[in-house]
Amino acid sequence: MSETINLKEHLKHPTFALIGSISDAEGLETYVIGGFVRDLLMYRKRDHYDIDIVTVGSGIALAKKVAFAIHPKLKVTVFKNFGTAMFRNEEVDFEFVGTRKESYRLDSRKPIVEDGTLADDQNRRDFTMNALAISLNKANYGKLVDPFNGLGDLESKLIRTPLDPDITFSDDPLRMMRAIRFAAQLNFRIEEQTFAAIIQQADRINIVSKERITEELNKIILSNKPSVGFKLLEMCGLLKIILPEIQNLKGRESINGIYHKDNFYHTLEVLDRISLNTDNLWLRWSALLHDIAKPVTKRFSPALGWTFHGHNFVGGKMVPKLFNRLKLPLNEKMKFVQKMVLLHMRPIVLSEEEVTDSAVRRLLFDAGDDIDDLMTLCEADITSKNEEKVTRFLANFQLVREKLKEIEEKDAVRNFQPPVTGELIMETFGLQPCKEIGLIKSAIKEAILDGEISNNYEEAYRFMMAKGKELGLKPVEG
Ligand code: CTP
Repeated sequence: MSETINLKEHLKHPTFALIGSISDAEGLETYVIGGFVRDLLMYRKRDHYDIDIVTVGSGIALAKKVAFAIHPKLKVTVFKNFGTAMFRNEEVDFEFVGTRKESYRLDSRKPIVEDGTLADDQNRRDFTMNALAISLNKANYGKLVDPFNGLGDLESKLIRTPLDPDITFSDDPLRMMRAIRFAAQLNFRIEEQTFAAIIQQADRINIVSKERITEELNKIILSNKPSVGFKLLEMCGLLKIILPEIQNLKGRESINGIYHKDNFYHTLEVLDRISLNTDNLWLRWSALLHDIAKPVTKRFSPALGWTFHGHNFVGGKMVPKLFNRLKLPLNEKMKFVQKMVLLHMRPIVLSEEEVTDSAVRRLLFDAGDDIDDLMTLCEADITSKNEEKVTRFLANFQLVREKLKEIEEKDAVRNFQPPVTGELIMETFGLQPCKEIGLIKSAIKEAILDGEISNNYEEAYRFMMAKGKELGLKPVEG
């Protein structure tokens, strides 16, 4: 059926027709293939388009000719090792490659490349929906070439490999992650045999670079309902290899008939809930990691039942190691996630008690500009089955938010700058650098946070004089 489909009205970008006419002149068969075709058939809008062009011949030579015809100075980036070349035209990236018949070595993802036909090339692609090609030559312009019924799979929302999945995944084990990423992103199902092959070959993910794995993980985390991807990762055995910390959250232990909750499913619920409110990748990572130290801090006592004391502190310490291993950035993004993990219980604890000004001030001081993100995380973390409890928590939370606003307007401690500097303390008491300066500075900070004095110069100065006196210091005359 799909043999007769023509999609030329979707090939509006002028570059398509140009590629077609240059291919005709050169005697080359050329197609647009991959994600662009898939998304077009799904009516899926993208912010940015990467368009894959495949030609039965040299992709690099064709890219250069097309680019020159667009503008003699248009820059072409060539990746000689991969036999690919790309240029950007009118905000769209075009990547060219020659059709290939590939075989892979078992110990690496680097293919040994041989030229092939379009059919060879489609065979070696990851999924039927990504092997769909549209002809760009004039005689067949817009004709869909779909040898594996990729269109049918798109309609039934099915992820399936063109070849025996064992071959497709052993050619490139990253595709196991891609299958799960597409399932999460597109809300598709992975066909049984394809999923069975992932279970079989999960270990081979170890030959894939961490950067590539992490790129797919990030896409799963950024999907509408990330739990879909994480449940699949867990079911096929990939999770325990790439994120053992998350795998270890799974399960419920019981002592004396008392169970703790399953922290894996709880974490996924928090991640799904936060995803309704934010597209910030790092805030979503914070949700995923907020309880990672629960397994190592878990204790049982008959009096208290299950406790996870200090799991926020221990969890915060685990974040840099995990980021380092996954080749995630070790800059302020990591620090943000670490801070969220460390502070994730503070607003909840606050809402359980009487909400005092001083507790709110301390929370604002510790969270700084990240306070709104912390509140978003905390709200997502309230997943109790007990509706009465949830309603009460959320109401208290509202109170915390109001207080936060009120205190911030009054005391401005969000980005706390000491109103009295160390230099002024030194000058006032005629001191060289010594521990008293630190003592006075931190006493001023504590007094502000406790609400004993307001956050301004006059009150801080008066407090400094009193504190100095207490420490036996005398102000310098004049
Ligand atoms: N491909 C593949 N195996 C891979 C990666 C890519 O077979 N491990 C093929 C697929 O045909 C894919 C095309 O190369 O459609 C382009 O890959 P890529 O740009 O990574 O992904 P898209 O499918 O375009 O999807 P997205 O843009 O959502 O990542």
